[in-house]
Amino acid sequence: MLRLGVNVDHAATLRQARYREVERGMVPEPSPVEFARESAAAGAHGITAHLREDRRHMQEADLVGLAREIRLPLNLEMANSSKMLAFALRLRPANICMVPENRREVTTEGGLRVRGAEAAILRTVKRLQRAGSAVSLFIDPVTEEVRAAAETGARFVELHTGAFSRAVGRRELAREVRRLAAAAELAHGLGLGVNAGHGINYGNIRELFGVPHLHELNIGHSIVSRALMVGARRAVREMLDLMRGYRA
Ligand code: PXP
Repeated sequence: MLRLGVNVDHAATLRQARYREVERGMVPEPSPVEFARESAAAGAHGITAHLREDRRHMQEADLVGLAREIRLPLNLEMANSSKMLAFALRLRPANICMVPENRREVTTEGGLRVRGAEAAILRTVKRLQRAGSAVSLFIDPVTEEVRAAAETGARFVELHTGAFSRAVGRRELAREVRRLAAAAELAHGLGLGVNAGHGINYGNIRELFGVPHLHELNIGHSIVSRALMVGARRAVREMLDLMRGYRA
């Protein structure tokens, strides 16, 4: 069964648009923890959140709240920095996805460059997995990156579906699906679990069904956007309904 990890970052984006400084008496809204609770009630399999260095959406207290209050596995997205490593070792979420981070980007724009940085990544992966978190590396669907990811001992890769989501026309889309499928085959063959995420929405998700071995999709922006129209529970259920058509 294909699992859905709901990324709740953009519930926090909306909150931060109004409540950057919280003063006494203020009740900041919306709450990403509440969004996660609604997602869990609708049948989501996990909750994902990215604690960015610039704290543009999620704050440390949000992650602590998610870990304490939500019974689903928590997937912390983080950059490979010493501060984030210390935070993750205190939080000990079930899953950690290591992502690249660039202050100027609007969102995570490309995958990690694992090849060439294997030693540093391997050290972090080892510490996190020894503390009980399963680590995934967010990479572009590129052969060399999949091979490098396998060398770090990470249990999963998350294939970056940004290029897939931006593909224009059938040919380009088919090419991106082929790239993802080849990367998924290779990762699976090397013993890695395969997740995918970024830019997946209600309109393009079926196209991903051509990619084998998928374990979990991490989806944020489209679910939070749909939730503004129909509510969080319905938005999550609609995505889960679409996902039921997937055969690994
Ligand atoms: N997976 C990873 C590693 C991400 O960085 C993001 C974006 O924060 C997502 C999934 C979710 O992407 P989207 O918000 O476009 O669904």
